[in-house]
Amino acid sequence: MSIDQSGFDTAAASYDEQFSHTNIGQFQRERVWQYLDKTFSKAWPQTVLELNCGTGIDALHFSSRGSRVLATDLSQEMLKETQAKLLHSNAADSVTLTQLDLADPQLPNAECHHLIFSNFGGINCINVTQLRKLAEFCFHCLHPGGHCIFVVMPQNTLFDRWYRFAQGQSEVYKQRAEKHQLEVSLGDATVSTYYHNASDIINTFEQFEFVDAFTVGLLPSYLESSRFLKVYQGIERFLLPILKSTKYSDHFLIHLKK
Ligand SMILES: C[S@@+](CC[C@H](N)C(=O)[O-])C[C@H]1O[C@@H](n2cnc3c(N)ncnc32)[C@H](O)[C@@H]1O
Repeated sequence: MSIDQSGFDTAAASYDEQFSHTNIGQFQRERVWQYLDKTFSKAWPQTVLELNCGTGIDALHFSSRGSRVLATDLSQEMLKETQAKLLHSNAADSVTLTQLDLADPQLPNAECHHLIFSNFGGINCINVTQLRKLAEFCFHCLHPGGHCIFVVMPQNTLFDRWYRFAQGQSEVYKQRAEKHQLEVSLGDATVSTYYHNASDIINTFEQFEFVDAFTVGLLPSYLESSRFLKVYQGIERFLLPILKSTKYSDHFLIHLKK
C-alpha cells in the first residue's frame, strides 16, 4: 500500500528555496555531481531512470550531459515544477516525465536503463518492505552492468543527534535511531520518513554488487538558518575527508551495480 506523501505536493513550490538553493543543498548536490563526473568520466549513461526527481534539477543536469532521462516522482506538484523548468530549457526533447510511486513501482513499458538515480532522500520515503520491492524493480529496469546510485539519510547522524540533544529533543532522536521512522516537517508540510543505513540498502539490494558509499554532507538543511552556519560548515569541511563511515551523514551516497 502506498504511503501518504501529499506533504511533498504542499512543499513543491517552495522546495528549491527551502533546500535546492540553500548553501547546504547546493554543497551536497555539487558533491553528488562530482561523484557522477568521476564515475562516468569515460562513458556518461545514455539513459537514466530518475526516481523521485523533485523539481527536476538533476534531470536537467543529466540531460545537459547528453542522457535521455525518464524523470519520475509520486508528487504531481513536483512533476509540474520539473515541467516548468523544462519549458525554459533545451532539455524538453531529452527528458520525459511520468508519475511513479516508489512504494509500488511500475512503468508502462519495460525499457531498460543504464543508470537508476535517486537523489536526496526519496528512498527515505519508503519502508523496508517497500524497499525490497524497489530492489526487484530496479533489477528488472537495468541493463546488465547498469548502475543504481541513491542518496539516502541514515538512522544515526552526528549533527542531528547533537542538535536534538542541545534542544532537549533527545526523544526525537531516539525514535529516529531505534524505530527508523519519524514524521518530519518540510516547509509547512509533514512527511513520513524512514531512515536506512548503507548496510540496509546493501542487504536489501542483495542481487547487486556494491561499488562505493560515502558521506555527501553532514549538515541537516534546518541548520541553514543558524547564525553558526559558517562554524558548522568549517567543522563539516574538516570532518568529511577523515570520516570513513557513512553512519554520521546527513545524506550518504551509495552506488550499486547490476
Ligand atoms: C527530498 S525530495 C528530493 C527531490 C529531488 N530528488 C532532489 O534532488 O531535490 C524527495 C522527493 O521524493 C518524492 N517522493 C516522496 N514519496 C515518494 C514515493 N512514494 N514515490 C516517488 N516519489 C516520492 C517527493 O515528492 C520529492 O519530490
